[in-house]
Amino acid sequence: MTGQWTQRAADIQSFKVMDLLKRAKELDEQGFDVVHMEAGEPDFATAAPIAEAAKAAIDQGLTQYTASAGIMPLREAISGWYQQRYGLDISPQRIIVTSGASGALLMVFSLLAEQGRSFMMTDPGYPCNRQFLRLIEARGQQVPVGPEHNYQLTPALIDQHWNEITAGVLLASPSNPTGAVVKRDELQAIADTVRAKNGHLVVDELYHGLTYGFDAPSVLELDPDAFVLNSFSKYFGMTGWRLGWMVVPEAAAPEIEKLAQNLFISPCTISQYAALAAFKPETVEIMEQRRQAFAQRRDLLVGGLRELGFDIPVTPEGAFYVYAGASHLTDNTFDFCWSLLEENKVATTPGLDFGSNHAEKFIRFSYTTGMDRIELALERLRQRIG
Ligand SMILES: Cc1ncc(COP(=O)(O)O)c(C=O)c1O
Repeated sequence: MTGQWTQRAADIQSFKVMDLLKRAKELDEQGFDVVHMEAGEPDFATAAPIAEAAKAAIDQGLTQYTASAGIMPLREAISGWYQQRYGLDISPQRIIVTSGASGALLMVFSLLAEQGRSFMMTDPGYPCNRQFLRLIEARGQQVPVGPEHNYQLTPALIDQHWNEITAGVLLASPSNPTGAVVKRDELQAIADTVRAKNGHLVVDELYHGLTYGFDAPSVLELDPDAFVLNSFSKYFGMTGWRLGWMVVPEAAAPEIEKLAQNLFISPCTISQYAALAAFKPETVEIMEQRRQAFAQRRDLLVGGLRELGFDIPVTPEGAFYVYAGASHLTDNTFDFCWSLLEENKVATTPGLDFGSNHAEKFIRFSYTTGMDRIELALERLRQRIG
Protein backbone atom coordinates (compact mmCIF):
# COMPACT_ATOMS: atom_id res chain seq x y z
CA MET A 1 0.00 0.00 0.00
CA THR A 2 1.18 3.51 -0.72
CA GLY A 3 -1.24 5.53 1.35
CA GLN A 4 -4.95 4.86 1.17
CA TRP A 5 -5.08 2.77 -2.01
CA THR A 6 -3.02 -0.11 -3.35
CA GLN A 7 0.02 0.42 -5.54
CA ARG A 8 -1.75 -1.81 -8.07
CA ALA A 9 -4.65 0.62 -8.38
CA ALA A 10 -2.31 3.61 -8.43
CA ASP A 11 -0.39 2.09 -11.34
CA ILE A 12 -3.46 1.70 -13.55
CA GLN A 13 -3.60 4.58 -15.99
CA SER A 14 -6.84 6.18 -17.04
CA PHE A 15 -8.15 5.43 -20.51
CA LYS A 16 -7.71 8.95 -21.87
CA VAL A 17 -10.28 8.62 -24.60
CA MET A 18 -12.92 8.17 -21.90
CA ASP A 19 -12.05 11.57 -20.39
CA LEU A 20 -12.26 13.14 -23.83
CA LEU A 21 -15.52 11.31 -24.56
CA LYS A 22 -16.97 12.67 -21.33
CA ARG A 23 -16.06 16.23 -22.30
CA ALA A 24 -17.37 15.73 -25.86
CA LYS A 25 -20.70 14.55 -24.41
CA GLU A 26 -20.83 17.60 -22.15
CA LEU A 27 -20.38 19.80 -25.21
CA ASP A 28 -23.20 17.88 -26.94
CA GLU A 29 -25.44 18.58 -23.97
CA GLN A 30 -24.56 22.26 -24.14
CA GLY A 31 -25.88 22.26 -27.72
CA PHE A 32 -22.57 22.19 -29.64
CA ASP A 33 -22.42 20.17 -32.85
CA VAL A 34 -19.49 17.86 -32.08
CA VAL A 35 -18.25 15.43 -34.73
CA HIS A 36 -17.50 12.24 -32.82
CA MET A 37 -14.45 10.39 -34.07
CA GLU A 38 -13.08 9.44 -30.67
CA ALA A 39 -15.00 6.35 -29.67
CA GLY A 40 -14.19 2.78 -30.58
CA GLU A 41 -17.72 1.67 -31.30
CA PRO A 42 -19.97 1.49 -34.33
CA ASP A 43 -22.49 4.33 -34.58
CA PHE A 44 -25.11 1.90 -35.90
CA ALA A 45 -27.69 0.76 -33.36
CA THR A 46 -27.83 -2.97 -32.70
CA ALA A 47 -29.58 -4.70 -35.60
CA ALA A 48 -33.33 -5.30 -35.21
CA PRO A 49 -33.27 -9.14 -35.19
CA ILE A 50 -30.87 -9.07 -32.22
CA ALA A 51 -32.93 -6.49 -30.35
CA GLU A 52 -36.10 -8.52 -31.02
CA ALA A 53 -34.47 -11.67 -29.66
CA ALA A 54 -33.54 -9.78 -26.48
CA LYS A 55 -37.11 -8.58 -26.01
CA ALA A 56 -38.41 -12.11 -26.50
CA ALA A 57 -35.93 -13.41 -23.90
CA ILE A 58 -37.17 -10.86 -21.37
CA ASP A 59 -40.80 -11.70 -22.15
CA GLN A 60 -40.03 -15.37 -21.61
CA GLY A 61 -38.46 -14.59 -18.25
CA LEU A 62 -34.98 -15.75 -19.29
CA THR A 63 -33.29 -13.58 -16.73
CA GLN A 64 -31.48 -15.95 -14.41
CA TYR A 65 -27.76 -16.75 -14.36
CA THR A 66 -26.59 -19.15 -17.03
CA ALA A 67 -23.73 -21.65 -17.05
CA SER A 68 -20.44 -19.80 -16.55
CA ALA A 69 -19.19 -20.72 -20.02
CA GLY A 70 -22.44 -19.49 -21.57
CA ILE A 71 -25.60 -21.15 -22.87
CA MET A 72 -24.88 -24.18 -25.03
CA PRO A 73 -27.00 -23.00 -28.01
CA LEU A 74 -24.80 -19.90 -28.24
CA ARG A 75 -21.57 -21.87 -27.94
CA GLU A 76 -22.90 -24.11 -30.73
CA ALA A 77 -23.89 -21.11 -32.84
CA ILE A 78 -20.38 -19.65 -32.45
CA SER A 79 -18.95 -23.03 -33.44
CA GLY A 80 -21.17 -22.90 -36.55
CA TRP A 81 -19.81 -19.43 -37.32
CA TYR A 82 -16.23 -20.80 -37.37
CA GLN A 83 -17.40 -23.51 -39.76
CA GLN A 84 -19.16 -21.02 -42.01
CA ARG A 85 -16.55 -18.26 -42.00
CA TYR A 86 -13.29 -20.15 -41.74
CA GLY A 87 -14.19 -23.76 -42.59
CA LEU A 88 -13.06 -24.75 -39.09
CA ASP A 89 -14.48 -27.48 -36.92
CA ILE A 90 -14.28 -26.07 -33.37
CA SER A 91 -15.93 -28.02 -30.56
CA PRO A 92 -18.37 -25.88 -28.54
CA GLN A 93 -16.53 -27.20 -25.47
CA ARG A 94 -13.57 -25.02 -26.49
CA ILE A 95 -15.75 -21.91 -26.77
CA ILE A 96 -16.34 -19.83 -23.64
CA VAL A 97 -18.82 -16.97 -23.79
CA THR A 98 -17.51 -13.98 -21.85
CA SER A 99 -18.45 -10.54 -20.54
CA GLY A 100 -17.03 -8.81 -23.60
CA ALA A 101 -13.52 -9.39 -24.84
CA SER A 102 -12.57 -7.41 -21.73
CA GLY A 103 -13.71 -10.31 -19.56
CA ALA A 104 -11.84 -12.69 -21.85
CA LEU A 105 -8.62 -10.65 -21.61
CA LEU A 106 -8.72 -10.71 -17.83
CA MET A 107 -9.18 -14.48 -17.82
CA VAL A 108 -6.65 -15.32 -20.50
CA PHE A 109 -3.94 -13.26 -18.82
CA SER A 110 -4.87 -14.72 -15.43
CA LEU A 111 -4.36 -18.17 -16.89
CA LEU A 112 -1.16 -17.52 -18.82
CA ALA A 113 0.78 -14.85 -16.93
CA GLU A 114 1.62 -14.06 -13.33
CA GLN A 115 4.01 -12.10 -11.16
CA GLY A 116 7.41 -11.89 -12.78
CA ARG A 117 6.16 -12.79 -16.26
CA SER A 118 5.30 -10.60 -19.21
CA PHE A 119 3.29 -10.70 -22.42
CA MET A 120 4.69 -9.16 -25.57
CA MET A 121 2.47 -6.75 -27.47
CA THR A 122 2.72 -3.88 -29.93
CA ASP A 123 3.20 -0.24 -29.12
CA PRO A 124 0.92 1.32 -30.33
CA GLY A 125 -1.75 -1.07 -29.11
CA TYR A 126 -5.01 -1.36 -27.21
CA PRO A 127 -4.25 0.34 -23.87
CA CYS A 128 -6.21 -1.88 -21.49
CA ASN A 129 -4.05 -4.95 -22.23
CA ARG A 130 -1.14 -3.74 -20.17
CA GLN A 131 -3.45 -2.58 -17.37
CA PHE A 132 -4.98 -6.05 -17.13
CA LEU A 133 -1.49 -7.48 -16.84
CA ARG A 134 -0.56 -4.97 -14.15
CA LEU A 135 -3.66 -5.93 -12.23
CA ILE A 136 -2.51 -9.54 -12.02
CA GLU A 137 1.04 -8.43 -11.08
CA ALA A 138 2.45 -9.39 -14.47
CA ARG A 139 3.45 -6.84 -17.07
CA GLY A 140 2.99 -5.86 -20.68
CA GLN A 141 6.18 -5.86 -22.72
CA GLN A 142 5.52 -3.23 -25.34
CA VAL A 143 7.49 -3.55 -28.55
CA PRO A 144 7.62 -0.41 -30.71
CA VAL A 145 6.29 -1.10 -34.21
CA GLY A 146 6.01 1.25 -37.16
CA PRO A 147 5.01 1.25 -40.81
CA GLU A 148 8.14 -0.77 -41.65
CA HIS A 149 6.56 -3.63 -39.65
CA ASN A 150 3.04 -2.94 -40.91
CA TYR A 151 2.42 -1.86 -37.28
CA GLN A 152 2.45 -5.51 -36.18
CA LEU A 153 4.88 -7.81 -34.42
CA THR A 154 7.02 -9.87 -36.78
CA PRO A 155 8.90 -13.14 -36.15
CA ALA A 156 12.14 -11.13 -36.12
CA LEU A 157 10.82 -8.67 -33.52
CA ILE A 158 9.51 -11.50 -31.36
CA ASP A 159 12.87 -13.21 -31.56
CA GLN A 160 14.74 -10.03 -30.76
CA HIS A 161 12.60 -9.05 -27.76
CA TRP A 162 11.90 -12.48 -26.24
CA ASN A 163 13.52 -12.87 -22.83
CA GLU A 164 13.40 -15.20 -19.84
CA ILE A 165 10.25 -13.65 -18.40
CA THR A 166 8.21 -13.58 -21.62
CA ALA A 167 5.20 -15.87 -21.21
CA GLY A 168 3.71 -15.25 -24.63
CA VAL A 169 2.64 -12.88 -27.35
CA LEU A 170 -0.59 -10.99 -27.80
CA LEU A 171 -1.47 -10.01 -31.35
CA ALA A 172 -4.47 -7.97 -32.37
CA SER A 173 -5.39 -8.33 -36.02
CA PRO A 174 -6.93 -6.06 -37.24
CA SER A 175 -5.29 -3.79 -34.71
CA ASN A 176 -6.63 -0.96 -32.65
CA PRO A 177 -5.44 1.81 -33.29
CA THR A 178 -3.78 1.16 -36.65
CA GLY A 179 -6.21 -1.15 -38.47
CA ALA A 180 -3.22 -3.27 -39.52
CA VAL A 181 -3.91 -6.91 -40.39
CA VAL A 182 -1.46 -9.83 -40.09
CA LYS A 183 -1.61 -11.83 -43.33
CA ARG A 184 -1.74 -15.61 -43.40
CA ASP A 185 1.93 -16.38 -44.09
CA GLU A 186 3.10 -13.90 -41.49
CA LEU A 187 0.62 -15.27 -38.96
CA GLN A 188 1.92 -18.78 -39.57
CA ALA A 189 5.51 -17.60 -39.14
CA ILE A 190 4.60 -15.82 -35.89
CA ALA A 191 2.78 -18.91 -34.57
CA ASP A 192 5.83 -21.05 -35.41
CA THR A 193 8.19 -18.61 -33.70
CA VAL A 194 6.13 -18.49 -30.50
CA ARG A 195 5.73 -22.27 -30.48
CA ALA A 196 9.50 -22.74 -30.88
CA LYS A 197 9.93 -20.66 -27.74
CA ASN A 198 7.33 -22.67 -25.82
CA GLY A 199 5.31 -19.50 -25.42
CA HIS A 200 1.58 -18.88 -25.59
CA LEU A 201 -0.01 -17.11 -28.51
CA VAL A 202 -3.13 -15.05 -27.86
CA VAL A 203 -4.82 -13.40 -30.83
CA ASP A 204 -7.41 -10.68 -30.42
CA GLU A 205 -9.67 -11.17 -33.46
CA LEU A 206 -12.19 -8.61 -32.26
CA TYR A 207 -12.32 -6.70 -35.52
CA HIS A 208 -12.74 -9.75 -37.74
CA GLY A 209 -15.48 -9.11 -40.27
CA LEU A 210 -14.35 -5.50 -40.44
CA THR A 211 -11.67 -5.87 -43.08
CA TYR A 212 -12.14 -4.23 -46.41
CA GLY A 213 -11.82 -6.16 -49.65
CA PHE A 214 -10.71 -9.42 -48.02
CA ASP A 215 -11.29 -11.62 -44.97
CA ALA A 216 -8.63 -11.92 -42.27
CA PRO A 217 -7.48 -15.46 -41.45
CA SER A 218 -8.14 -16.77 -37.95
CA VAL A 219 -5.03 -18.01 -36.19
CA LEU A 220 -7.03 -21.17 -35.46
CA GLU A 221 -6.64 -22.11 -39.14
CA LEU A 222 -2.90 -22.25 -38.54
CA ASP A 223 -2.34 -23.01 -34.88
CA PRO A 224 -4.91 -25.08 -32.95
CA ASP A 225 -3.16 -24.27 -29.66
CA ALA A 226 -3.60 -20.51 -29.92
CA PHE A 227 -6.02 -18.65 -27.66
CA VAL A 228 -8.50 -16.50 -29.60
CA LEU A 229 -10.51 -13.59 -28.26
CA ASN A 230 -13.53 -12.23 -30.05
CA SER A 231 -16.59 -10.20 -29.24
CA PHE A 232 -20.05 -9.21 -30.33
CA SER A 233 -19.04 -5.57 -29.80
CA LYS A 234 -17.59 -4.55 -33.14
CA TYR A 235 -18.70 -6.47 -36.25
CA PHE A 236 -22.04 -7.32 -34.65
CA GLY A 237 -22.46 -3.78 -33.28
CA MET A 238 -23.24 -4.83 -29.69
CA THR A 239 -20.78 -2.82 -27.59
CA GLY A 240 -23.25 -2.07 -24.80
CA TRP A 241 -24.42 -5.67 -24.50
CA ARG A 242 -21.06 -6.66 -23.00
CA LEU A 243 -20.71 -10.01 -24.69
CA GLY A 244 -17.69 -11.72 -26.19
CA TRP A 245 -16.14 -15.15 -26.47
CA MET A 246 -12.88 -16.97 -26.46
CA VAL A 247 -11.69 -20.15 -28.12
CA VAL A 248 -9.15 -22.01 -26.03
CA PRO A 249 -7.28 -25.32 -26.27
CA GLU A 250 -9.37 -28.15 -24.84
CA ALA A 251 -7.20 -28.56 -21.74
CA ALA A 252 -7.57 -24.86 -20.88
CA ALA A 253 -11.39 -24.78 -21.07
CA PRO A 254 -12.08 -26.09 -17.51
CA GLU A 255 -9.51 -23.66 -16.10
CA ILE A 256 -11.12 -20.69 -17.83
CA GLU A 257 -14.54 -21.91 -16.74
CA LYS A 258 -13.34 -21.97 -13.14
CA LEU A 259 -12.10 -18.38 -13.45
CA ALA A 260 -15.39 -17.34 -15.10
CA GLN A 261 -17.42 -18.86 -12.25
CA ASN A 262 -15.51 -16.83 -9.70
CA LEU A 263 -15.07 -13.58 -11.56
CA PHE A 264 -18.38 -13.17 -13.39
CA ILE A 265 -20.71 -16.09 -12.41
CA SER A 266 -22.01 -15.91 -15.97
CA PRO A 267 -22.15 -13.54 -18.95
CA CYS A 268 -25.28 -11.40 -19.29
CA THR A 269 -28.18 -13.77 -19.93
CA ILE A 270 -30.34 -11.48 -22.06
CA SER A 271 -27.37 -10.56 -24.21
CA GLN A 272 -26.65 -14.23 -24.80
CA TYR A 273 -30.17 -14.93 -26.04
CA ALA A 274 -30.00 -11.79 -28.17
CA ALA A 275 -26.69 -12.90 -29.67
CA LEU A 276 -28.28 -16.13 -30.90
CA ALA A 277 -29.92 -13.95 -33.56
CA ALA A 278 -26.56 -12.45 -34.60
CA PHE A 279 -25.68 -15.39 -36.83
CA LYS A 280 -28.99 -15.50 -38.72
CA PRO A 281 -28.55 -14.83 -42.46
CA GLU A 282 -30.74 -11.71 -42.32
CA THR A 283 -28.61 -10.27 -39.50
CA VAL A 284 -25.34 -11.10 -41.22
CA GLU A 285 -26.69 -9.34 -44.32
CA ILE A 286 -27.16 -6.17 -42.27
CA MET A 287 -23.62 -6.49 -40.88
CA GLU A 288 -22.20 -6.90 -44.37
CA GLN A 289 -24.01 -3.74 -45.52
CA ARG A 290 -22.49 -1.89 -42.58
CA ARG A 291 -19.10 -3.28 -43.52
CA GLN A 292 -19.52 -1.70 -46.98
CA ALA A 293 -20.42 1.60 -45.33
CA PHE A 294 -17.26 1.42 -43.19
CA ALA A 295 -15.16 0.73 -46.29
CA GLN A 296 -16.50 3.89 -47.97
CA ARG A 297 -15.91 5.94 -44.86
CA ARG A 298 -12.36 4.68 -44.56
CA ASP A 299 -11.60 5.69 -48.15
CA LEU A 300 -13.08 9.15 -47.63
CA LEU A 301 -11.24 9.74 -44.36
CA VAL A 302 -7.86 8.36 -45.42
CA GLY A 303 -7.97 10.38 -48.65
CA GLY A 304 -9.07 13.57 -46.87
CA LEU A 305 -6.48 13.30 -44.11
CA ARG A 306 -3.69 12.63 -46.59
CA GLU A 307 -4.72 15.74 -48.54
CA LEU A 308 -4.41 17.69 -45.30
CA GLY A 309 -0.86 16.48 -44.85
CA PHE A 310 -1.44 13.75 -42.26
CA ASP A 311 1.04 10.92 -42.51
CA ILE A 312 -0.66 7.57 -43.18
CA PRO A 313 2.09 5.44 -44.68
CA VAL A 314 0.13 2.17 -44.52
CA THR A 315 -3.54 2.23 -45.53
CA PRO A 316 -5.50 0.68 -42.65
CA GLU A 317 -7.09 -2.55 -43.87
CA GLY A 318 -9.47 -3.24 -41.02
CA ALA A 319 -11.24 -2.09 -37.83
CA PHE A 320 -12.61 1.48 -38.04
CA TYR A 321 -9.59 3.58 -37.18
CA VAL A 322 -7.01 5.69 -38.92
CA TYR A 323 -3.83 6.26 -36.92
CA ALA A 324 -2.50 9.40 -38.53
CA GLY A 325 0.83 11.14 -38.03
CA ALA A 326 0.27 14.82 -37.25
CA SER A 327 3.82 16.06 -36.77
CA HIS A 328 3.23 18.69 -39.48
CA LEU A 329 0.78 20.30 -37.03
CA THR A 330 2.05 19.66 -33.54
CA ASP A 331 4.59 17.85 -31.38
CA ASN A 332 1.94 17.32 -28.72
CA THR A 333 -1.19 15.63 -30.05
CA PHE A 334 -2.60 15.31 -26.54
CA ASP A 335 -3.02 19.09 -26.28
CA PHE A 336 -3.92 19.32 -29.95
CA CYS A 337 -6.81 16.82 -29.61
CA TRP A 338 -8.20 18.70 -26.62
CA SER A 339 -7.97 21.99 -28.48
CA LEU A 340 -9.50 20.43 -31.61
CA LEU A 341 -12.43 19.40 -29.43
CA GLU A 342 -12.84 22.70 -27.58
CA GLU A 343 -12.25 25.02 -30.53
CA ASN A 344 -13.28 23.07 -33.62
CA LYS A 345 -15.70 20.56 -32.09
CA VAL A 346 -14.02 17.51 -33.58
CA ALA A 347 -13.46 14.72 -31.05
CA THR A 348 -10.48 12.41 -31.71
CA THR A 349 -8.11 10.34 -29.57
CA PRO A 350 -4.49 11.32 -28.90
CA GLY A 351 -1.80 8.74 -29.63
CA LEU A 352 -0.77 8.74 -25.96
CA ASP A 353 -3.65 6.38 -25.21
CA PHE A 354 -1.96 3.64 -27.21
CA GLY A 355 1.55 3.66 -25.81
CA SER A 356 4.70 5.74 -25.85
CA ASN A 357 6.17 4.97 -29.29
CA HIS A 358 6.21 8.49 -30.81
CA ALA A 359 2.65 8.62 -29.48
CA GLU A 360 2.68 12.42 -29.15
CA LYS A 361 2.86 12.64 -32.95
CA PHE A 362 -0.25 10.58 -33.68
CA ILE A 363 -4.01 11.00 -33.58
CA ARG A 364 -6.54 8.19 -33.90
CA PHE A 365 -9.59 9.04 -35.96
CA SER A 366 -12.53 6.61 -35.73
CA TYR A 367 -14.76 6.46 -38.77
CA THR A 368 -17.70 5.44 -36.66
CA THR A 369 -19.77 8.29 -37.98
CA GLY A 370 -21.56 9.00 -41.29
CA MET A 371 -20.00 10.26 -44.53
CA ASP A 372 -21.48 13.75 -44.07
CA ARG A 373 -19.99 13.98 -40.58
CA ILE A 374 -16.59 12.86 -41.84
CA GLU A 375 -16.81 15.55 -44.56
CA LEU A 376 -17.65 18.08 -41.84
CA ALA A 377 -14.71 17.00 -39.68
CA LEU A 378 -12.37 17.29 -42.67
CA GLU A 379 -13.75 20.75 -43.41
CA ARG A 380 -13.20 21.85 -39.81
CA LEU A 381 -9.66 20.49 -39.91
CA ARG A 382 -9.06 22.33 -43.19
CA GLN A 383 -10.22 25.56 -41.59
CA ARG A 384 -8.04 25.03 -38.57
CA ILE A 385 -4.94 24.12 -40.54
CA GLY A 386 -5.57 26.94 -43.00
C1 LIG B 1 -8.36 -4.46 -29.54
C2 LIG B 1 -9.47 -4.49 -28.56
N1 LIG B 1 -9.58 -5.54 -27.72
C3 LIG B 1 -10.56 -5.61 -26.79
C4 LIG B 1 -11.52 -4.60 -26.67
C5 LIG B 1 -12.63 -4.75 -25.64
O1 LIG B 1 -13.84 -5.00 -26.29
P1 LIG B 1 -15.18 -5.53 -25.58
O2 LIG B 1 -14.90 -5.73 -24.15
O3 LIG B 1 -16.22 -4.50 -25.87
O4 LIG B 1 -15.51 -6.83 -26.28
C6 LIG B 1 -11.45 -3.48 -27.52
C7 LIG B 1 -12.42 -2.37 -27.40
O5 LIG B 1 -12.31 -1.33 -28.00
C8 LIG B 1 -10.41 -3.44 -28.49
O6 LIG B 1 -10.28 -2.40 -29.33
